Order: sequence, then C-alpha cells, then structure tokens
Amino acid sequence: MQTILLFVLLITPFTMVAKNIQSPNGHFTFNFELNDKGEPVYELLFKGKSIIKPSRLGLFLKNDPGLVDGFVLSNTETSTFDEVWNPVWGEESSIRNHYNELLVTLNQPANDRSLNIRFRLFDEGLGFRYEFPQSKNLNYFVISEERSEFAMTGDHTAFWIPGDYDTQEYDYMESKLSEIRGLMDVAVTGNTSQYPFSKTGVQTSLQMKTEDGIYINIHEAALVNYSCMHLNLDDENFVFQSWLTPDAVGDKGYLQAPCVSPWRTVIASDDARDILASRMTLNLNEPCKYEDTSWIKPVKYIGVWWEMITGKSSWAYTDDLLSVKLGETDYTQTTPNGRHAANNDKVKRYIDFASEHGFDQVLVEGWNEGWEDWFANSKDYVFDFTTPYPDFDVKMLNDYAHSKNVRLMMHHETSASLRNYERHMDAAYQFMVDHGYNAVKSGYVGNIIPRGEHHYGQWANNHYLYAVTKAADYKIMVNAHEAVRPTGLCRTYPNLLANESARGGEYEAFGGNKPFHLTILPFTRQMGGPMDYTPGIFDTQLTFLESDDHSFVHTTLAKQLALYVTMYSPLQMAADLPENYERYMDAFQFIKDVAVDWDETCYLEAEPGDYLTIARKAKGTENWFVGGITDENRRTSTVKFDFLDKDATYVATVYADGKDADFVDNPSSYQIKKGLVTSKSKLNIDMARSGGFAISLFPATKQDKKELKRLK
Ligand code: NOJ
Ligand code: CA
Repeated sequence: MQTILLFVLLITPFTMVAKNIQSPNGHFTFNFELNDKGEPVYELLFKGKSIIKPSRLGLFLKNDPGLVDGFVLSNTETSTFDEVWNPVWGEESSIRNHYNELLVTLNQPANDRSLNIRFRLFDEGLGFRYEFPQSKNLNYFVISEERSEFAMTGDHTAFWIPGDYDTQEYDYMESKLSEIRGLMDVAVTGNTSQYPFSKTGVQTSLQMKTEDGIYINIHEAALVNYSCMHLNLDDENFVFQSWLTPDAVGDKGYLQAPCVSPWRTVIASDDARDILASRMTLNLNEPCKYEDTSWIKPVKYIGVWWEMITGKSSWAYTDDLLSVKLGETDYTQTTPNGRHAANNDKVKRYIDFASEHGFDQVLVEGWNEGWEDWFANSKDYVFDFTTPYPDFDVKMLNDYAHSKNVRLMMHHETSASLRNYERHMDAAYQFMVDHGYNAVKSGYVGNIIPRGEHHYGQWANNHYLYAVTKAADYKIMVNAHEAVRPTGLCRTYPNLLANESARGGEYEAFGGNKPFHLTILPFTRQMGGPMDYTPGIFDTQLTFLESDDHSFVHTTLAKQLALYVTMYSPLQMAADLPENYERYMDAFQFIKDVAVDWDETCYLEAEPGDYLTIARKAKGTENWFVGGITDENRRTSTVKFDFLDKDATYVATVYADGKDADFVDNPSSYQIKKGLVTSKSKLNIDMARSGGFAISLFPATKQDKKELKRLK
C-alpha cells in the first residue's frame, strides 16, 4: 500500500491528469490535462469533432519564472449553474445563464504558489479565466505576456482586422488564416496607426469558419483591470496565442493577488445564427452593480454631427486659436468662422425636428471651447467640458429642449488626454446634471496622453470604466467612442449604453465602408456589446456637399433602414440631416416607428460576410420589426413570419429596394408596400447590391383587416 502511494506521488508531477466536462446540451466536450512539462493544456470538441486542438495555458511574468510550467494538479471541482436574469435593456427581456464548470487548482512546487483556472462550458461554447490566489510568492506581479493558445484544426476562413493597440477602425478582411501575412500590408493601408504589432496579429472578436461549416468565434469577456487581448497567429501550425496590449514601457499588466483575468471565450456552432444568439459574453460578466437602474433608458437620437463629419460645417467656432494669453497680453481670437454648427438657431431647428418626430435626444458636438487649439495641436489639455462657445446658450437651449419633451445629449471629446478628463470629470458631470443632460457621448481621438500609453492598455481600460462608474454617480448614461472594444461589461454597468470601437458609419464620409462590412460587425465587434454605428444616412451620395469629395455611402437607402434592426443598440442615431429626411418622409417613418429595446429576438438568416435577417419584438408591445441586409451581391431573402403570434394578424409595411436600386448607381430607389400578414405568411424580398429591407409589423385593427389585402 505504502509503495503504491509513494509511486503515485512520485509520478504525479509528470503524468497527464485528464479531466473533462460536457456542455449542458452535450454538444461540447472539454478536456483538461497537464503535459509532461507540467503545462496546463486544454482541448475543445464540438459534436465529437475537435475545434480547438490541445492548447497550452499560462502566463509569463516579469523577473519571475512565470506561471507556465512545472505545475501539479492539486484539486478539481465541477459544478453546474442555471439561472435566468433580466437585463436593464437588451435584445431580449430575459437571458438564461446555464453552464457546467470545472475549477482547476494547480500548484507550482518549485515556486511554492498556485494558479487556478476556471472553465465554463455553455451550450454555445467555452469561457475560461485565470485566478490568482494571493500567496507569499504571488502578490504583486507584472505580466510580460499571457500564453493562452487557441490551436485551430486547419486553415480556416477568417474575418479579421489587424492587431492594433489604438484603433479598431479598419475595414474587415476575409481570407484563409494562411493568407493573413500576405494581406497585412493591404489591411493596414490608409490607417494612420503605426501597427500591426506583427504580420499575423489580429484583433478579437475574431470570426472564423472551418471548411466543414463550423463557425468559431474567439473574444474575451469582462475586461477589467487588464490589458485588451489580441491574437498572434503561428501561421505554420494555425495556433493563435494571446498578445496583450503593452504599456509605455512594454509591460502588459500590473496585478495584485488575489485577482482574476478577463474570460477568454470560444463560441462555436454549425449554424451561424447561433453565434449571434449567444449571450455567453454577457453571462460571463458580473450581474448589475447598481441598485437603482430606473434612470437608465434606451435612446433614439439625432444630432448636430453629420454635417461636421462630412466637412460641411465645423466643430470649432473660429479658425484661429481661441484663447492665447502671453504674459499680460490677451491674443484671444473670437472671429466666428461662419461654419460653426452648434449655434443657437441650428440647435433649435434640430430640437424642433426631434420633437416633431418623436426622438428622445439631440446630440450637439462642437458646443464647447477647445476645438481650435486641439486642431492646431497647440496644447495637450484643451477641453474643460464646461465652457460653451459664445453662440451656444447652454441654458436657453436646454430649457427649450425640455419644453419640447426632448433632451440635449452632451459631447465630451477628451482629445485622449485621460488625466485631463479625469481632473474635470466631476465638474463636467455636475454641469450636465445642472442643465438637465442625462447622456454623454465621449471620444478619445488621437494618441493617448500621457504619450506612450495605448487606447487598449490596462491603464486606459481602467479609465474607461472609471468614467462609466463615475457617470453612474450622476445618473448619466455613456456612449464612448475610440475606447476599448466592449466585452459585455454593459451587464454589470448598464449605463454604458454603447461604444463605437469599430469602423462606424462616419467612414462612409471618409472613403467608404465595404458593402459586406455590416454583415460582419454583428459577428465580431458586436459580440461584446452594442455599437453606436450611426445609421440612417438617406442622402447616400452626399449630394448636399458642395465639395468634390467623391465619398459616398456604400449601401442603398433601404439597407440604411435595416440597420436599426440588424445593428443592435439601445442607443440609435438617425444620423442624416433633417433636410435629407424631409426629402424621404415615407421611408423616414420606419426610423420613427422602430424600437430601441426588445423583448425577443429571432435570427432568421445569417452568413458572416454575406447576409443577415433579424426579427425583433419591441419591449412591452406586440410590435415586431425585421431587418435584412446583403453584401455586394444581389440576393432574395425569404422571410417566414412564423415568429409572429399564431392567433394574430398584423399590418406589415415593407420598405425594400426598388427594382432598379443599386448602391452605386441608384441607392435611393426604394418601394414601400403595406398589407396583412400572419404567422403563416412568407415573403420573398429582393435586395439590390449592398441593399436591404426593413419591415414593421403592428397588430391589425378591425378597420385594417377590412381595408388592407394580404401581402404577397
Ligand atoms: C470621432 C467620433 O467617432 C465622431 O463621432 C466624433 O464626431 C469625432 N470623433 C469628434 O469627436
Ligand atoms: Ca471614431
């Protein structure tokens, strides 16, 4: 007996210790073991087929042997979790969080310390994170790199953007994994950032498809007090390894035990719609931290914005430096440039339009001093967020808006000067409260100040979350642009209504987005949370511009309507100018009708890079809205209305591309049809090149049933 025990003890450190768990539906099998070097290794199978081959886990630490090998298995614990929770806002009103868990405790005898790895296997895939218990030899530590491997089983097709520490505003590439290296130079063309960090480095969320039709998505969840993860591909073996965003001196994370890493996620299915339907990213985040969430409300808004983006107007009040004081002499220039959009008359016009058409808010950018200095790059710290330009009467305009049941939306361009923003934050938020604002769009354009830090490093990530929680103290909702891409934190902090963190609609004015862009974003950027894409450009040819800029919006008008359904966000903008909506009032009706919060969502058709059709039921109503889009190819979508209530009849209004519509030659050709449908109805709808369609469905009244025909 004693000899056997001794034998076991001796061989344990170098024996493979296998543990496995299944997902609740049995589709996924997960195996864990330690290899002969004592390195943690996992693999993942979907319906019996390997989708992640044996892959190593661990972390390299600075001035330290690291947490990568020499481990022995000290303990394993399995458990099951199953609950339903209700998000404050979302794609549905209740979400099931159901998984089987394996918690592995690893000892590293040589360094007398331990590391835990927690694995959760859901019906849609795997989440895992590192947990660092505090010990004498693991207290304060610095990560030099994380070694989380994701070994692919082949040369999959990937939808990717270059790895970059400061921007995600790239056009997507679709290629085999083996082609990434050759395409990297093309992929970064036109972007001002100095990256990629490697010729095979890509960002998450990364969507892939295997040759036998399995969709695999890699991302992260609950990115808190840690650097954002990119992926670096070993393209001979098709193994991805985590690549964290460094700080100014190249370190990748400063941690103090006890603490945890964000979750690394692998979502997979043989049906692309399941990827979109997955709520795993949200489920891996902590429940809402706020007791009272009654002040958090989805927002539909317009804004004094597109005219600056397209170059018609300016953010700045003057083209000179605004406030230059040298010694006793004040050289302050206040000559108006005549192109300042955020002026009293214009803002009132927007407020009137919002009020007339039922919008909640009006964003006004360029309302505050600092833009001249920022554009002139004269100073690092130009904005104080409380000083309006002389032609923007902050009190009068807010009073006017409130009298019309509309609010103004605040804008804080931080110029990426994080400490400056933090210094002014209390005053800035208090200024908002005093004037009746409850939502802020913030932005982080330019290199992070202090220099050397990156947009996606641990330090900046902590700032973004600080800004959100601090805003909550003032009951303020946040929409942050150029911040780190979302990882489901909106579950915990639901006043984070949306982010940009990808190539948004604004790029249509800067040369354009590829027609397939909007069929990919839901599979990538939006896996972590809502995007403020700013849809609804009706004048897709930008005919209102007098300049000879040949930018145009690479969609049809009908596709712009579809985006209100396909691009989920509790914060939706109607981004075009009021006068452009006034030209197409019948189509504008859809934007007025469409909801921004939902009880139910059904994914009807989906293929990343090709097409997407989604139906959503508006929160607290019987109304449904459907959106469908296609890439650069014409396509016919077959919409089956079997998601509707079996006993009801609905009035459907279909906003579709005109017969002769085309995103280049004839984008504003659309047709609107109205008629009755039931759950048995089926419609074939033709989409133009980069076209789409939108449908509103309202329960039919007796009168409707008499007057309208069935839609065919
Ligand atoms: C970039 C943002 O994405 C855009 O929406 C904003 O208008 C500009 N920054 C100015 O802050
Ligand atoms: Ca941007």
